[in-house]
Amino acid sequence: MARKYLFLILCIGVCSQNRLQSQNIIPQPVSIATENGSLGFDSNLPVILDDNDQEQKRMEPHITNLYESLGVKVLSSPNANGAALRLINNKQANTKLGNEGYLLDINSMGISISANAFGGYFNALQTLKQLLPVNPSNNRIALPFLSIEDYPRFGWRGLMLDVSRHFFSVEDVKRYINQMVQYKFNVFHWHLTDDEGWRIEIKSLPKLTSVGAWRVERIGSFGEGRVFPKPGEKATYGGFYTHEQIKDVIAYAKERNVTVVPEIDMPGHCMAVLAAYPELSVNKTPKFVNPGSKFSEWYGDGTFKMLIENTLDPTNEKVYEFAEKVMTEVATLFPGEYIHMGGDECYKGYWEESKDVQAFMKKNKIKDVHDLQSYFVKRIEKIVKAKGKKLIGWDEILEGELPSDATVMSWRGMKGGIEAAHKGHKVVMSPTTFAYLDYTQGDRSVETNIYADLSLEKSYEFEPVPDGVNPSLILGGQANLWTEAIPHLDYAMYMTYPRALATSESLWTPASSKNWKKFVHRVEHHFDRFDNQQTTICKAIYDPVIQVKKKEDGNYLSLKSDVEGAEIRYSTDNTYPLERAALYNTEFRLPEGKYLLRTQLFRQGKPIGRMLTIPIDELIKRAK
Ligand code: ACM
Repeated sequence: MARKYLFLILCIGVCSQNRLQSQNIIPQPVSIATENGSLGFDSNLPVILDDNDQEQKRMEPHITNLYESLGVKVLSSPNANGAALRLINNKQANTKLGNEGYLLDINSMGISISANAFGGYFNALQTLKQLLPVNPSNNRIALPFLSIEDYPRFGWRGLMLDVSRHFFSVEDVKRYINQMVQYKFNVFHWHLTDDEGWRIEIKSLPKLTSVGAWRVERIGSFGEGRVFPKPGEKATYGGFYTHEQIKDVIAYAKERNVTVVPEIDMPGHCMAVLAAYPELSVNKTPKFVNPGSKFSEWYGDGTFKMLIENTLDPTNEKVYEFAEKVMTEVATLFPGEYIHMGGDECYKGYWEESKDVQAFMKKNKIKDVHDLQSYFVKRIEKIVKAKGKKLIGWDEILEGELPSDATVMSWRGMKGGIEAAHKGHKVVMSPTTFAYLDYTQGDRSVETNIYADLSLEKSYEFEPVPDGVNPSLILGGQANLWTEAIPHLDYAMYMTYPRALATSESLWTPASSKNWKKFVHRVEHHFDRFDNQQTTICKAIYDPVIQVKKKEDGNYLSLKSDVEGAEIRYSTDNTYPLERAALYNTEFRLPEGKYLLRTQLFRQGKPIGRMLTIPIDELIKRAK
């Protein structure tokens, strides 16, 4: 054992505030037993770890960072009472803990963290950070005596970031990863390619990035508001990651217990590929990288039409040569076991209309375009497998017959995942219904309007194992951040949190320990942590939740608060402020007239959230 002489200057005293921190951990640990007494930081706290244990050695920079963040000087002499922060390798691996679980004990001898592997030590440190005061440098530090046993419910706890619709720098991506690991996520799904930009250097196909990574600059809402490139207009918006940058991100993630899963979306979502290599499409006409202009029509029942070709031609051998080159470099770069091939929302109209494609299908006894997609998926799976990797794709890859060892990521609700599991495939649940972070999270009057809504409460209802499904086939789950409406990292954080906290708890904590009311209470505490890190997140739980019900004699308004101890006040007479406005207690019929509803939450007479202001006409449109 070596003593690392990193020391905290410790404050004497028991801070009861800090005892409460043990009730605020997210995700909720499997078990916490608190005991009387506190570890007062009144001297120094050496770190004791085994220099010969590589898993423990990897913790050194993280422990050093933690100590530094506490704003105390590093001293050079050991403390007298023997208390220390100790990392202990479970001599007989506690199988319950696996590679990511841990035991964390705080007592008069200091802090001890026992784990089987790096992931366990790392996760324990995240818990320890949450036990510390929000802003330790301004506080006296005293940790309550306690004993935590903790391990994850699922091995796949992911967040996906779409870097195609908007480009995020390496620094942004690292910040995103650094934030997610604080809540024990362990998979970073990197959506690297789409119609709006190809973001990964492929040395053998240089035009993918010299052409495919750049588009004309447009701002604002995707769709109607973004006009197509004008003749001769320069493509100036975009970017891509070099091999060196990708290796850097992977190494950064690895040292935070995160596996990076790259997604190369095929055969649809390929407009950026076709801008670079139009010969890979059926019609071979020139294309451009889409700047977010509307190029598809959606019919409300899940069917759609792409007005510009964005699919690869699955009958063209050159497409498989392309895929071979891409997957060779991707497999070499990414050490994880999975490569994600996308496979979603592939419009098949151009295949249907092509005589050559139809002739190919006839010759190869492929009965329809869905089977043709299945033919494509199987060819890609072979390529991926030959590189020693496993294939994962969105649930559309289930169309036709899917190779048995392919894994399905279920996004169109849970049904794709259920069907896949019934067929014996492994599944990652990532349904729009609970896990789409691009959806509007608060009231539409104060948030960006996306085509669907997802509140924190709904996110928290995520249960990845549906009834009747073999739980061993559910690897876990993931929340996805599509970035059509997210131009920069600050907004990515706002849209991700706090909903990702709900996802993290659904994926880590035993289902029987989940409790919405207690969770919301803990989320409030974490708002302070985000504030302290200067990360602005969505506090929509401080806004009233509005519901309008259509009844026989008119439209009824009901208001709700997600947080406890809040008063809901409102006005329907066009007046504000609301400090002394009517106190809401039960639903009421909306009066007739031309007015704005104003409503806001208060605690002890002080506003805690935003004032929502909604015209009566708009409210009536919401009536259900
Ligand atoms: C998806 O949301 N198209 C996977």
